[in-house]
Order: sequence, then structure tokens, then C-alpha cells
Amino acid sequence: MPSPAKNPHLPFGDQRSAPWYGKDIISVKQFSRTDLEYIFGVAHEMRVMVERVGTFDLLKGKILASIFYEPSTRTSSSFIAAMERLGGNVININEVRYSSVAKGESLPDTIRTLECDADVIVIRHPELGSAAKAAEAAHKPVINAGDGVGEHPTQALLDAFTIHEELGRMDDLTVTMLGDLKYGRTVHSLSRLLSLYNAKLNYVSPDILRMPSEIIAEPEAKGMRQAEHRALDKPLPETDVLYVTRVQRERFEDPAAYEKLKSAYIISPEVMKAAKHKMIVMHPLPRVNEISYAVDTDPRAAYFRQMRNGMYVRMALLAAVLGKA
Ligand code: NCD
Repeated sequence: MPSPAKNPHLPFGDQRSAPWYGKDIISVKQFSRTDLEYIFGVAHEMRVMVERVGTFDLLKGKILASIFYEPSTRTSSSFIAAMERLGGNVININEVRYSSVAKGESLPDTIRTLECDADVIVIRHPELGSAAKAAEAAHKPVINAGDGVGEHPTQALLDAFTIHEELGRMDDLTVTMLGDLKYGRTVHSLSRLLSLYNAKLNYVSPDILRMPSEIIAEPEAKGMRQAEHRALDKPLPETDVLYVTRVQRERFEDPAAYEKLKSAYIISPEVMKAAKHKMIVMHPLPRVNEISYAVDTDPRAAYFRQMRNGMYVRMALLAAVLGKA
């Protein structure tokens, strides 16, 4: 369910009844099935508009402040592209060492500063809970672009949109998540989001990178079917969505432990022979070596299409929180 709206003073012409107007997007727990249908519908319209006209003026005059305390290529650039395709402007801070953060400014003060200039703030930060902390400090909507090992809600929304676009449904699917399920925030958000549907979840990981028990407990409480595996061979033949993740090197204290695990699973054309004819392989990207390049030409490889969907979903989310969807 959406959190209480911020920014109640709407400029003339904005849609006061828009359900996500003025809301923060911090966790996928805020979303219901109806919310997802709404976001998917708007994202689909955004795709049609971009393919037809490229750029249009829905958010003309609006400013997004985007601040990334952790590296990013896709998330950061797709938020920027989303805002610019909607005719808005962006303040982009991705080198926090050149900002006042380097002088010791606190997160709430940085956020209060950015909201003086912008209408919406996107933040990525290495600490779990940082996006919620930023949202508490801000009067303008804050969007979580990844808070450490916590959540990555906009990625889960674009993942769900991709599944919906590619397979035409969200129910009655077997989704197999593979790789670093302990530190991978995208799988944390996605398994929570899929618990809204009648899906079966398989978790395949090395023992020390298992899905955290508190995350398994949430879909469990909703009666969802979940199974843990150490090897992919058993769940692969029943899989409709194979969601591959990289081992998150930056979250390891011991580089030797990372080296031991980084090649635990590699998806190759040989491995894909055991998969269904109609299924998809997804990856939030960046990949390191967990999907071989030879798989890219397999029509089931959906990860580049998934990445493109990121811009449409983020266009929908920006329009929604700014009351223009
Ligand atoms: C993911 C992230 O940052 O959590 N990347 C992304 O946003 N597409 C996945 C990752 O870094 O492995």
C-alpha cells in the first residue's frame, strides 16, 4: 500500500487523485497487485510513446536529483534517461567524493539540500535502511535505487514487468533464483513481490550465500511454494524464469571467499539444453562470468530486453510520484 503522500500543494493541472502522487518508493512491500497492474499499464504506455515520439513533455519543468553513493551504470542512467524522455531535468551526483558528503555532511542534511532544488530524489546507498532514512528527512518523494543488501524496488518492478511482457502472466510460474541470494538485493525484492502471485520459487545458491531466512519467511507466511537447492540440475527443467545474479564481491570481507564462490554456477549453451523451450533467462546485470556470452543469442536470453524495460518502468514511477501518470 502506498505510504502517506508528501507535498500536498499541487501546482495547477496536476492529477490530485493519482494514487502514487507524492509517495516515497522504498520497498516492494508498498505494492499490491492492483498497484502493479497500474504501473505495468503506465510503463506499457511509456514504451509506446517512446517508440512513437522519443521524448515528450509530461514532466517538463520538473527536476530529479539523483545521488548514488555506490557504483551504477544501468539504474543511474535509466533514471536520467527516464526523466529526460519525459521532458524533465536532472541534477546528477554520482561522485559523492566531490560533493559535501566528502566534508562529512549527514545523509538527512544532503537530502534536505537536494530537495530545495528538486521535485523528486533518487538515492542509492550502501547502508541497509538508508533510503527510508532519506525519505524521513525529505518532504519530496524519495525513490530507493538500492540500499545495501536491503531492497532494490524499482529493479523488482522492472523484473516483474519483464516477466509479464515476456510470458504474458505472473501467476502459475516457477521462478528459479540462482547465485548470491544472501547479498543480492534484487532477489530480496523480487521474491517479496512474487509473493503477491501464485508462483513457485526455487532458490539455488552455495550454502553460505543462501536466501536469508527472514526473506523466505515472508512468502512462506502467504502459503507460497519455495524450495532451496545447491545445484541447478533438478529445478531447471521446470523453470519458467531463471533469474541469475552475480556474486556480490563488494559485500565480502574476505577476498579469498569471493574467489572461491564467484564461479559457482555458469549458465552456458550446454546448461540451457535442459531448460524448457518457452522460458526466459533474466539477470539484473552487471554480469561477471555467471552467464557465458554464447547464451546472449539464445531467444530465451531476456536480460537485455529486461534492461530496456527499466527505463519504461522508471518513467512510469517518476510520472506516478509526480502526479502525472
Ligand atoms: C543490481 C544492484 O545494483 O543491486 N544492479 C542493478 O541495479 N541493475 C545487481 C548487481 O549489482 O549485481
